[in-house]
Amino acid sequence: MSTSTSRGSLISDDVNGRRRVAKGHHIFHSFLNPIFVFRLLLAFLLLSLVSILALGYYVSTGRHYYATIPLSRPVVNVPCAWPQTRGQGPMWDYGKYLPAVHEGKAQLRLDPRALLFVTTTHSSLGKSLAEWLVANRIRYKLEVAGKSLPVLTNEGKGKFGVIIFENFYQYLHMDSWHRGILDKYCREYQVGVLGFLAPQGENVFSSSLPGFPLSVELYSHVLRAELNPESRVLRITRPGDVVSPLGTVQKWVTFRSNHSTYKPVEWVHVPLEPLIPFDQAKSISDPPPVPRSEQKISVLLDEGQYDGIPRILFGAGLGFWLHHLLLLDGMSYLSHGRLSDSLTRYLLVDIDDIFVGKSGFRLIPPDVLELVEAQRRLQSLVPGFRFNLGFSGGFHHRGTPYEDEAEDLLLYYKDEFWWFPHMWTHMQPHSVDNITALEAHMVFNKQFAVEQGLPMNGSYAIAPHHSGVYPVHEPLYEAWKSVWGVEVTATEEYPHLRPPRLRRGFIHNGIKVLPRQTCGLYTHTNLYEEFPGGKEKLEESIRGGELFLTLVSNRVNVFMTHMSNYALDRLGSYVFESAVQFLRCWTNLRLETRPPLQLADIYFDLYPEEQDPIWGNPCQDKRHLEIWSKNKSCERLPNFLIIGPQKTGTTALYSFLSIHPAISSNRDSPETFEELQFFSGKNYQKGIDWYMSFFPPPANDNETRYLFEKSANYFDGTLVPQRVHALLPSAHLITILIPPSKRAYSWYHHQRVHNDKAALEFSFHEVITANPRHAPRALRELHNRILQPGMYAHHLERWLALFPPQQLHLVDGERLKSDPILVLNQLQTELKIRPFFDYANHLKYVDQKGFYCQVDSLNKTKCLGQGKGRNYPPMESASLKFLREYYQPENTALEKLFKRLGYPIPSWLEEELGTESQNNPQIPAEEISNNVSSHWENPGSQ
Ligand code: A3P
Repeated sequence: MSTSTSRGSLISDDVNGRRRVAKGHHIFHSFLNPIFVFRLLLAFLLLSLVSILALGYYVSTGRHYYATIPLSRPVVNVPCAWPQTRGQGPMWDYGKYLPAVHEGKAQLRLDPRALLFVTTTHSSLGKSLAEWLVANRIRYKLEVAGKSLPVLTNEGKGKFGVIIFENFYQYLHMDSWHRGILDKYCREYQVGVLGFLAPQGENVFSSSLPGFPLSVELYSHVLRAELNPESRVLRITRPGDVVSPLGTVQKWVTFRSNHSTYKPVEWVHVPLEPLIPFDQAKSISDPPPVPRSEQKISVLLDEGQYDGIPRILFGAGLGFWLHHLLLLDGMSYLSHGRLSDSLTRYLLVDIDDIFVGKSGFRLIPPDVLELVEAQRRLQSLVPGFRFNLGFSGGFHHRGTPYEDEAEDLLLYYKDEFWWFPHMWTHMQPHSVDNITALEAHMVFNKQFAVEQGLPMNGSYAIAPHHSGVYPVHEPLYEAWKSVWGVEVTATEEYPHLRPPRLRRGFIHNGIKVLPRQTCGLYTHTNLYEEFPGGKEKLEESIRGGELFLTLVSNRVNVFMTHMSNYALDRLGSYVFESAVQFLRCWTNLRLETRPPLQLADIYFDLYPEEQDPIWGNPCQDKRHLEIWSKNKSCERLPNFLIIGPQKTGTTALYSFLSIHPAISSNRDSPETFEELQFFSGKNYQKGIDWYMSFFPPPANDNETRYLFEKSANYFDGTLVPQRVHALLPSAHLITILIPPSKRAYSWYHHQRVHNDKAALEFSFHEVITANPRHAPRALRELHNRILQPGMYAHHLERWLALFPPQQLHLVDGERLKSDPILVLNQLQTELKIRPFFDYANHLKYVDQKGFYCQVDSLNKTKCLGQGKGRNYPPMESASLKFLREYYQPENTALEKLFKRLGYPIPSWLEEELGTESQNNPQIPAEEISNNVSSHWENPGSQ
């Protein structure tokens, strides 16, 4: 036996080597021992630590949290007087409530467009109407009422399928001339008028409508509204129930008539009290507690029996949600179905980050069971419905044991759902510039999917926080394709998050990007009772508000939700079940779910015009900037562009500007030689990373630097102004103008040198005078390509529709030839380029070339190549005469434009517009020749 020899020891080892505690006075004695005190303290601390850990575990298992939350889960409750599914509920005559069919022969003569008359461009109902048309992708023309009428017909077709008046009184009080034209159009093309009756003055409560056997009454208080189930207008709208309260509408106009042309579409119930103005009504001290009510017509169909024009009149605006639906139906009815949309809506609900979430806010086993059940319930309402689960395998089993149990259960039910990948660790792809690193993240996630046997909803993927999808991060698209074979994704960021009605899709690098909608639930939206802004806000969104209208207006709806929305009080399932039931109660829309790839195909079949994206500027949207690689910079985008047109001296200006020490151009494109032709052609599809790669990265020195690019075919490209404006809204645009006839002639010779077949086959005169309808195709095309860019005024107006005049710089191309130093000095001033660079020492006229050329540091001259300043015979006078006449209207418009913008009229324009060419077709050849000497206004002065 070994005994501890130390004094006051509490412990001794027994024969078996076990320790035992000493007893008796030793113990008492030991209390005074500092080692004992220290040990006691240590034991106490240990005990506390264990308790804290135990408590922590208890809390972190979530059991405690889940047990203590008073989980009064919201119960789906959508009262609906009409049966939502056939075969359920009381006996109904279903045939009666089938959606009306509006299609008629008259639609063949109408364009699918609305003509919307607003009171002012800022009036509130007018704005809401326009927004609702945009949300539903209905094309429209906006006009301020009381001004002139737009052209109503085009080649025997009516340009508008329906006429809408924000204020119907403006239609009634239109001057008789315009009213006559409008009514004649309506009768001839069988187009109807849809109008809203704004209350007219506070004290008028009853009046008749001039020219109609109809009177209106004003009510400041209505009790409820209901629809006429017999109305032929109802197509999307289904008479769901009696509704109250009635949105934000303060005052209602109701209609009264004995004429048989008028049929009710909607009624309101008004209290049976004397009709008195609103202000006085407020002062009545003791109104009856439950007012007796009377039914009044609040939306009225005029079948057109009275004066041959059908009309639909609304007694209140869009503040009452049902009127959004009635507006769509009204337009469909009045346009004979020309403005009808399909009744099918597609619904896909993604649950992002199914393994990502804070402990205590994650799914527990009963939530998983309920998720399966909710899906089954939704499947009975929405054929094909499946929740689409997004996973980051790196977060699997990161919860408490109880939460991990839920994940196991979810994986047990894995085949019930569709699955799609996020990144392995939920990292944001834009933060990684390297494709291999991104691929590695994805490969991990893929391995996880394989190990777990997840039934992948092939070809769909989502990036955390939309990162890399838009603004586009090319490595993400590449890695997605190589690892997963992704073909579809979705984002809420294109073109911008807000307003949601403008979200659109696009296709990039073979991947279809669908617009994604939010239903108001985010990772932090967890409890019904704690819904931001109050649960009433959520209910309103479901019952006629934002979520409801999103489902109505979008043919394809991809919704984003999160795992935590299906935990705790399971708000996610509540929202979708309620929304779907409400939609079925109030509309005839049929909801369906399809896998993402099918949805994408449906979407881009419906909206093929959306396939090509419009690249925005990431620096103009804070959210975009947050998900844009730190290695990218808007400083790598040009400050100004030389936009053309071709053959006006663009190369000369480009190379002269490049001499300036503070100005840098793009590096050459291997495909198009010096021009990038980004905004005008196929290169645009390559995205802005491609574009920016041609410009030097921002320098570290503090020197100011100006970047520019020149692509001479930007000038007349149809989509170019819009594209440039989206990416470079503050860029300066330089355009060079020479006589359009001269430009055409130079271009013709350019084409001949480039072996254009038609240019070699036909003479210049044959090309310019070719009949644009009957000439052989190649000739027609050449004819257009030669002449179109010379429509200077037309093209400049397209640019000016998007850019302020201060950003547009017009350079006289004849002056550029004769005095480039002056032109460049002026441009430096206009573009505010610092430091000023004196070109006098760097440009020199070279006789042999007949043009100004650069002077290098060794004082050698360097002229532009043979292709610039070509020698060719002078233009025939007949051709010049023809072209001067051809361009006469355009040149006149150009002169006006110059004046409007405050530019002096170039002498060549005066000459083109002068009478001498018409009076004397025998113009001396040297005046019009495009050979070397003819470039000079006054070569001798140099
Ligand atoms: P021509 O070759 O028909 O004479 P672009 O560069 O836009 O294609 O324009 C070519 C035209 O630039 C030439 O047309 C030429 O007239 C004109 N130009 C203007 N300044 C020039 C210069 N310094 N050197 C060569 N050509 C110049």
